[in-house]
Parts: sequence; C-alpha cells; structure tokens
Amino acid sequence: MARLQVRNAEKWFQRETGQPFKVLDGLSFEVREGCVTVLVGPSGCGKSTVLNAIVGLERLDRGELVFFNHDGQSQQRPLIGYVFQGPRLLPWKTVGDNVRLALRGAGVAREKWEDRVQRYLALVGLEEYVTQYPLYLSGGQRQRVGLARALAIESDLVLMDEPFASVDELTARQLRETTRRLCEQLHRTVLFVTHNLPEAAYMSDFVVALTARPACVEACIDNPLPCPRRWGPEIYRFAADLEAKLSLREEAEI
Ligand SMILES: Nc1ncnc2c1ncn2[C@@H]1O[C@H](COP(=O)(O)OP(=O)(O)OP(=O)(O)O)[C@@H](O)[C@H]1O
Ligand SMILES: [Mg+2]
Repeated sequence: MARLQVRNAEKWFQRETGQPFKVLDGLSFEVREGCVTVLVGPSGCGKSTVLNAIVGLERLDRGELVFFNHDGQSQQRPLIGYVFQGPRLLPWKTVGDNVRLALRGAGVAREKWEDRVQRYLALVGLEEYVTQYPLYLSGGQRQRVGLARALAIESDLVLMDEPFASVDELTARQLRETTRRLCEQLHRTVLFVTHNLPEAAYMSDFVVALTARPACVEACIDNPLPCPRRWGPEIYRFAADLEAKLSLREEAEI
C-alpha cells in the first residue's frame, strides 16, 4: 500500500541571471508502506529537491504530493523524519539533548522522551553516549545520532538524503547494516536517496531511477534479494543489473 504518491511533480528554479530552468519534469512514483524505496539518479538531477518538496521546504510548481494514512485514506502531510547527508547536530548540546530537541519539535509528550532517547540510542549502539557532546564522537557515530534522532520521533515516513556519503566505505557499510535492520525491525516507511548503486542494491526494497535533469522516472525496479540483507557478491550483481538498466549520466551542461 502506498503511503505517498508523487504525481506529475514539476519544479523550476532560477539561475543568478533570473533565467528559469526545469529541475523536475513530471515526476511520478510512490513510496510503499513498510518498505525502503531508493531514489537513484545522477548528481544534480533533483533528488534533494524531491525530498525538500515532500517535507515542505520547497513547493512544487505543478503536480501534487498525496499522503495516505494506514487505512489508505488521503491525509495532510504527516510527521516526517529526515536524515541529512551530514549529521547536523548542535555541538553545544549533548547527544541526548540533540534527540530530545527533535522529540520536542515533533510534539512528542515530555514523559516519553527519556524512554525514546534510551531506546533509539541503544538501537544505533550509542547507549553510553547520551551525556557526551558531538565533538567527542567519530563521523560515523554522529551519523548514528542523526539516524536515532530521525527514528525516535516515530514518524510515518523517514527521508534519508545520501546519509552515508560523508563517511568511509567500511563505516558506511556498518551504518547501512544498522539502518536496513532497523527499518525491517521497526517496519518503517523510508525514502532513501543515493547515487551509489551497491548502496541502492543493499538498502532498497524498490528502486526508482531518475534521469538527468530535468528529472523524470526512468525505471522502477523491485529488489529481488532476500531479507535480511547480507553484504555479498549478490549485492554487486544487482548493482550491475541496475547500472545496465539505467543511463546514469553526469549532470547536464548548464
Ligand atoms: N534553491 C535553489 N535555487 C536554485 N537552484 C537550485 C536550488 N536548489 C537546487 N537547485 C538546483 O537544482 C538542481 C537539482 O538540485 P538537487 O540538490 O535537487 O540535486 P541532487 O540530485 O540532490 O544532486 P546531488 O546528488 O549532487 O545531491 C541543481 O542544478 C541545483 O543547482
Ligand atoms: Mg542532493
């Protein structure tokens, strides 16, 4: 069942000269309940723009976003968790307080905060860091806090924008493993952006591939790999299949 349908999304931006250019060109796809949908596409094609429109930071020029509740009824934009490319933690707040801030922002009742902070930091393996400041954490640990913060609000939908792009490959693999496992365990509905095809192969239940800018959907592909996912040769085989199906090109010339 769909939790979100993006219907004929069109978005224009302006260059410094004032000249408009099209970024999204009639984009349509859906995000299924309890699944990880991975959006892949070349750099600059408009992936972050799609996420920003979903979370309400950008407005579409045409088309619509339709959100659905668990009963399949359309609804207003629900609470949405967002994991950014960098952890974006407040350095003067402890790890616990960074999560508490998100809980407050999401309107979670104060009596639930401590339980959520403990539970979600434990799920990402950081239960001992509640009172620590972000400065004393590694890049991968900070990204784990970002993940805990996005999951702790227990939103209907979680957006992840290249969340592991700024850490080394081995750390990224551990983070992918944690994220994928938690999404399966907690049955979260996730829209995950990447242009890393092995990452797309590992993380996805469903892949939506975009063309270069202006972006439209090039292909929608179900991931045939079994769950729970294991990092192995089959990941690279599916990534190669994806590559063969897609025309991932460099950003269009301006
Ligand atoms: N607020 C803005 N004003 C003008 N142009 C913008 C704005 N935001 C994004 N763009 C342009 O829109 C295009 C799409 O940007 P976007 O950040 O969505 O790409 P992306 O697919 O996320 O790229 P990457 O993979 O590199 O993160 C780019 O050409 C970018 O320069
Ligand atoms: Mg982006």
